[in-house]
Amino acid sequence: MWSEVSRRLLAWYGETARSLPWRGIHDAYSIWVSEIMLQQTRVETVIPYFHRWMNRFPTLPSLAEASQEDVLRLWEGLGYYSRAMNLHRAARAVMAEHGGVIPADVVALRALPGVGEYTAAAIASIAFGADLPAIDGNLRRVLSRVFDVSLPVRSPEGERRLLELAQEHLPAGLAGDYNQAWMDLGATICLPKKPACLICPLSEVCLARQHGTQADRPVLPPKKAVPHITVAAAVIDRDGKVLLARRPPNGLLGGLWEFPGGKQEPGEALPDTLRREIREELDYDIQVGSPIGVYQHAFTHFKVTLHAFDCRPGEGEPKALEASALSWAALQELDGYPMGKIDRMISRDLQARANGAGD
Ligand code: ADE
Repeated sequence: MWSEVSRRLLAWYGETARSLPWRGIHDAYSIWVSEIMLQQTRVETVIPYFHRWMNRFPTLPSLAEASQEDVLRLWEGLGYYSRAMNLHRAARAVMAEHGGVIPADVVALRALPGVGEYTAAAIASIAFGADLPAIDGNLRRVLSRVFDVSLPVRSPEGERRLLELAQEHLPAGLAGDYNQAWMDLGATICLPKKPACLICPLSEVCLARQHGTQADRPVLPPKKAVPHITVAAAVIDRDGKVLLARRPPNGLLGGLWEFPGGKQEPGEALPDTLRREIREELDYDIQVGSPIGVYQHAFTHFKVTLHAFDCRPGEGEPKALEASALSWAALQELDGYPMGKIDRMISRDLQARANGAGD
């Protein structure tokens, strides 16, 4: 027997489901790629990346055979680059351990790099029809409103309660649609700040609406202050080529290329920061010239303001003490190096400056 909530939810989904490129297909690889891309990222942002990815790596073996550089280059701009590295590693693991066939079982899925509880349940339900709720941040919000859950949603009790409720209402055999119906409701109607209760298909059964608690759900922990760091980066030009350093494979922006530099210490002038960082990280002495620009970026847990400077090279060769590789790149070669957002902005500014110089 379907509950009133799931009956209304699925009727609404049947009429209004968003048409998305990974829907209506039963290819587990496409669904897996979409779920990884959709982690922390909006549907509209993901769609063009998804198309490019499926063109370039249409099958799991084609991804497993690709180079890490190609994979990162295609991911560039989506952020959270460890997702791309993990997807690549997981494709190789599926080739090695599962004969190239993505496992249907959540426990086996969960063991793949980059596949957490939510993603394993999403793939198992959408691609393989497993009767499992897939609860991410959006579902936590929507479920805690519809069932007016006053427990903190990230506490063990809160997580357990939401899982129980989602399971209780799950119509057997339709978990893929059920999960995606909740997702669509969260993305289009039950929005974080302004839920559109007047047009919500669940408004008559929504307990938060009955109790007037929509704005108080979900119950989240208090927000922590976001640290803000200031960084200096060096554009070291040697005979028309600039120095790039590749970040170590693990950690923030792992495996991506950047203009070398580092964090400003309290009381330090930015040119001193730069000389110190380049000496520490590359055993290289540079001369710091004029500022090129100031760049801002917000990561999940902190904000960065980066000051880029034109620099002159020192004697000898820089050493990759902390970077995993170094490369002198001509400006027209920069597009071939996968980079994070800020370093790509610097690259574009350098290219524009060089192209404008002949005007
Ligand atoms: N977010 C994560 N997975 C999704 C899906 N399958 N459809 C819509 N939004 C999503």
